[in-house]
Amino acid sequence: MTKTPDDHGERFDEIAAEYDEDQSPEYRACVELVVEHADPDGEETLLDLGAGTGAIALALAEDAGRVLGRDVSEGMLEQAREKATEREITNIDFREGRFREPNVDGEVHIVTSNFAMHHLSDEEKREAIDVIAGLGPRKFVLGDVMFFGEPDPGEPFYSPEVDDPATVGLLADALTDAEFALTAVEPVHEQVGVLVAERSHGDGAQ
Ligand SMILES: C[S@@+](CC[C@H](N)C(=O)[O-])C[C@H]1O[C@@H](n2cnc3c(N)ncnc32)[C@H](O)[C@@H]1O
Repeated sequence: MTKTPDDHGERFDEIAAEYDEDQSPEYRACVELVVEHADPDGEETLLDLGAGTGAIALALAEDAGRVLGRDVSEGMLEQAREKATEREITNIDFREGRFREPNVDGEVHIVTSNFAMHHLSDEEKREAIDVIAGLGPRKFVLGDVMFFGEPDPGEPFYSPEVDDPATVGLLADALTDAEFALTAVEPVHEQVGVLVAERSHGDGAQ
């Protein structure tokens, strides 16, 4: 592990006010794909992990019954809450929570995460995927920095000192080990993509 969740929280607190200003086309494509694939049915509860300033959670609030945004950075969460207030979105709850301790009560139908899980080590990602599976969602949509080919630290999508992206293969294995079926793989760039995982059985079965 390169950094602890609290280290990441402090790092994102410092850049929270400017976070929305500098976004790559690949990041925006990922946001669009995660939102499109999440597709809640109007009644469902959606949990967004590593919610940041709310790009995914806010975009999906209108289509969900309830949205829970969880993050380790109070600064990022504060930006998200301000946007929810400005947009008069009331079915959303932004609070502290982390991948392996999401701080959630009650049923969760869909879990999303965008550009956040790469902050965890591969072992921690596996643990996080097990925790997510344990919440019983019918679907988990993961947009992130991930390697479709060879890792290339020269590319702009990650910094080895603070980020630890996984290969698509490792993520696919972790998801299937947690009894998700991988139902879509959307490459956005050699190092960025979206995976859609659905429960084939269990609490969230369709
Ligand atoms: C690059 S931002 C992405 C934010 C948002 N999902 C988006 O698409 O704009 C990464 C976020 O992950 C959060 N984060 C890092 N490690 C985390 C962890 N272990 N649990 C929850 N959030 C975490 C950071 O605080 C930050 O807000």
